[in-house]
Amino acid sequence: MLEIRNLDVSYGYAKVLHDVSLNIKTGEMVFLIGRNGAGKTTLLKTIIGLLQPQKGSIVYAGKEISNLSPERLYLQGFRYVGQEKKVFGNLTVQENIEIAAFASGEPMDVSLKKITSIYPKIKDFLKTKAGQLSGGQRQILLVGRALVGEPKLLLIDEPTQGLAAIVIEEIIHILDSLKKQVSALIVEQNLSLVKQLSDRIFLLKEGKMVREIISKSEESGIQDLEGYL
Ligand SMILES: Nc1ncnc2c1ncn2[C@@H]1O[C@H](COP(=O)(O)OP(=O)(O)OP(=O)(O)O)[C@@H](O)[C@H]1O
Ligand SMILES: [Mg+2]
Repeated sequence: MLEIRNLDVSYGYAKVLHDVSLNIKTGEMVFLIGRNGAGKTTLLKTIIGLLQPQKGSIVYAGKEISNLSPERLYLQGFRYVGQEKKVFGNLTVQENIEIAAFASGEPMDVSLKKITSIYPKIKDFLKTKAGQLSGGQRQILLVGRALVGEPKLLLIDEPTQGLAAIVIEEIIHILDSLKKQVSALIVEQNLSLVKQLSDRIFLLKEGKMVREIISKSEESGIQDLEGYL
């Protein structure tokens, strides 16, 4: 569904991504791994239209999209959950969801039903200000909010970063329940999670795509990855 070919991306004169290619098939959960500074966030931001590539193409459903804005891509079903876990802190959880429902033209009760189906406990927090949520609750709100409207492709940057083991288990459960419903590209350093959920894994090293692993058939390849993180 998404085909990235030979991307070069720079910040000013500093080239960060070099000839990067990656693809995601419909319904797949693909993981992107690599050390700090490898360029993982840069790649997600380029896909979502926040950065422009200097070279290469991003084709979605047969059309070039590298020139489209994040707003246009949102309407096409792209959902980006950034590494900084940004919510509207002064608004309640319910209001945070309402904004997404409004933006996508979906009735709020439909949006809420989708989110409670993956995380029933959200009902207890609807009136809480999002700024008061724990890191884990905030991450779950963001993933839930990404389901509003008609998501086709989730792009999630380090969903378990900084979270306690028990919350990571909840996130794994939620991501697992999304498998097959929606395609996803997830940046993640937690290899145990990657092993459990991935269909394929791409390894980025110093801005270059150095390896692709098909999870089911390459158990030993996944073990090797530890040396790269
Ligand atoms: N806005 C920016 N301006 C200039 N350089 C940047 C900017 N953002 C990132 N970089 C540089 O680009 C490189 C890749 O950064 P990026 O954030 O994509 O890495 P990452 O793989 O997501 O790392 P992390 O695991 O720490 O999140 C790094 O060298 C970083 O310093
Ligand atoms: Mg990053």
